[in-house]
Amino acid sequence: MFLGKYLIWVMLLLGQICGSKSCIKKERNALFELKKYIISLSEEGKSNDHLTTWTNDTKSDCCMWKGLKCDPTSGRVIELSISLPYLKLKESALLNLSLLHPFEEVRSLDIDGSQFSGLFDDVEGYRSLRRLRNLETLRLSSNSFNNSIFPFLSAATSLTTLSLRYNDMDGSFPVKELRDLMNLEVLDLSGNGFNGSIPIQEFTYMRKLKALSLVGNEVFGSIELQGVCKLKHIEELDLRRNKLVELKNLTNLELLDLSRNGYNGSMQEFTHLKKAKSSRSKWQ
Ligand SMILES: *[C@@H]1O[C@H](CO)[C@@H](O)[C@H](O)[C@H]1NC(C)=O
Ligand SMILES: *[C@@H]1O[C@H](CO)[C@@H](O)[C@H](O)[C@H]1NC(C)=O
Ligand SMILES: *[C@@H]1O[C@H](CO)[C@@H](O)[C@H](O)[C@H]1NC(C)=O
Ligand SMILES: *[C@@H]1O[C@H](CO)[C@@H](O)[C@H](O)[C@H]1NC(C)=O
Ligand SMILES: *[C@@H]1O[C@H](CO)[C@@H](O)[C@H](O)[C@H]1NC(C)=O
Ligand SMILES: *[C@@H]1O[C@H](CO)[C@@H](O)[C@H](O)[C@H]1NC(C)=O
Repeated sequence: MFLGKYLIWVMLLLGQICGSKSCIKKERNALFELKKYIISLSEEGKSNDHLTTWTNDTKSDCCMWKGLKCDPTSGRVIELSISLPYLKLKESALLNLSLLHPFEEVRSLDIDGSQFSGLFDDVEGYRSLRRLRNLETLRLSSNSFNNSIFPFLSAATSLTTLSLRYNDMDGSFPVKELRDLMNLEVLDLSGNGFNGSIPIQEFTYMRKLKALSLVGNEVFGSIELQGVCKLKHIEELDLRRNKLVELKNLTNLELLDLSRNGYNGSMQEFTHLKKAKSSRSKWQ
């Protein structure tokens, strides 16, 4: 017993002295499967620069591949980014979420500019993302996702940052759809087609929300910012390029950007903006 413990301790120490651990076999294989899947969906049956470093050479350390970051001690993938801006995918390409399940420790997942139009998992269905228990950041920007992905996103309850910018979503602000994501701090819905007014009073369940962007949607009408104050942590509300015309009662915001709306009110309405200053924006 004692000797066993001692050995483990020595091994851990050695691991640290000898630098970071390389990636584990299960994840390397999963990355290669993911690459094969993407190639099968690409119109020309090819990958792009991003994926060329993802090889099936068993001597290559997948932690060094493009778009990957591993935990130095466990060697597990903690950040995975698949950026496919110049790869033309077949029309209505779906992302098979099951392929992500081996990455049990992943905290940040970035699937950007990939023209995927939907998510699916033929085994676990909508519960799929529940398998990624540590997932904090999910960026799905510049794809062709529509509202059909919300039921999948609902299962990712550990999320603190969600970006859905530049997709094909529409309809009224997705209050109900995002109801289960109670840990969200940053929500980026810019560049979609959300319309109607923003029912701020209704999303007080997002108690931790710090920043919301709805830039370039079709949001119109008036916005009751007294409701915003109920979101105790909100610091940033970006509403550029919508059709807002009226504002009421502003309080705790640090940054409110309303450029290119139809806003015609007076600046007097901003006198409650106590902490207003040009703070660093949370949008990347
Ligand atoms: C690994 O890559 C080589 C060269 O690209 C290829 O010939 C081989 O079939 C691949 N093996 C697997 C298991 O995909
Ligand atoms: C999706 O991925 C899983 C895991 O690799 C696989 O078992 C399943 O067959 C895939 N589904 C389709 C339709 O490709
Ligand atoms: C939304 O996307 C899914 C998956 O691509 C597709 O099957 C569905 O028809 C789309 N819905 C609308 C309203 O476009
Ligand atoms: C909001 O957008 C949806 C989908 O494009 C549309 O059906 C609906 O009529 C729009 N609602 C308003 C109030 O413009
Ligand atoms: C602004 O808030 C005050 C109290 O905080 C309230 O009395 C007033 O009616 C509000 N004004 C508007 C336009 O909602
Ligand atoms: C601002 O615009 C709205 C909608 O066009 C209009 O109803 C309102 O009277 C305008 N207010 C002012 C102060 O011009």
